[in-house]
Amino acid sequence: MGLSLLAGCTAFENLLDEKEVLIGTQHATKTAVPQMADYDMDWNVFFEKEPDDGEDVAAAEDDTEDPANEEEPAEEEKTEEPEESAEPEAIPVVANPGAMNVMVNKFWSLPEGYRPADLIKPNVLFSFGDENSDRSKLRAEAAESLEIMFNVAKGEGIELYARSGFRSYETQEAIFKNEVATFGYEQAVLYVALPGTSEHQTGLAMDITAKSVGLELVEAFEGTAEGKWLAANAHHYGFILRYPKGKTNITGYAFEPWHFRYVGVDVAGEIYTKGLTFEEYMGDVREF
Ligand code: DAL
Ligand code: ZN
Repeated sequence: MGLSLLAGCTAFENLLDEKEVLIGTQHATKTAVPQMADYDMDWNVFFEKEPDDGEDVAAAEDDTEDPANEEEPAEEEKTEEPEESAEPEAIPVVANPGAMNVMVNKFWSLPEGYRPADLIKPNVLFSFGDENSDRSKLRAEAAESLEIMFNVAKGEGIELYARSGFRSYETQEAIFKNEVATFGYEQAVLYVALPGTSEHQTGLAMDITAKSVGLELVEAFEGTAEGKWLAANAHHYGFILRYPKGKTNITGYAFEPWHFRYVGVDVAGEIYTKGLTFEEYMGDVREF
């Protein structure tokens, strides 16, 4: 299905796994999202590339109760999108990209070309097997903690698989462009961060899955033993469930039961016990 759209896109070849993940994502929710003018991007490139059937693919995927695709007023904004006139504002850059509690989101980006210097590969199971690639790595502190978490889980009969760790700006850009081309802009921004704004580029986020969901990243992970274990225990190892259910109006992203972000044990503990989003914890909540 969606993957066939990628055939021939050689630039994307090494990313097939990640694309599979994103394409396999169930796009079931829809809320207001920031508009194109909020981002310093060349949208003409994306819209030239966007095939007509992109929206259809998304619609076909959510044959269930999808409230999407029809009733969104965002179409109006789209029509005024020959938008060279509307000067896109650059997203402000964080001052502390290397901090364990750095917050990147739709309002805060990483410095151009940011790449942490201490990326290492944790000794855990990966959905894609054993490879020495960016996506298998995290910053050292997060990687060590992830390894401990996976080992403890295993001791309790919970087998976790790491699926997507560090992503460079360029990798995120390729994924984002592909998501826009496949599903359209509005769906894309609910699931994939603009390049420069992804937690994966901090080296502190790992997407985690299990065999119970075919090693994919899907909402159904929430209901699995592995997903439940992570949701209840990740904070002991310094990780938070970064995009909780029902918090899209704060995080800007759909529920992602697979995306865990390392913030350190103290911060994670407080966020977990108080039931906060990271934005709320940081006292920087913007309404979408
Ligand atoms: N899926 C998350 C939002 C990312 O692309 O970083
Ligand atoms: Zn993720």
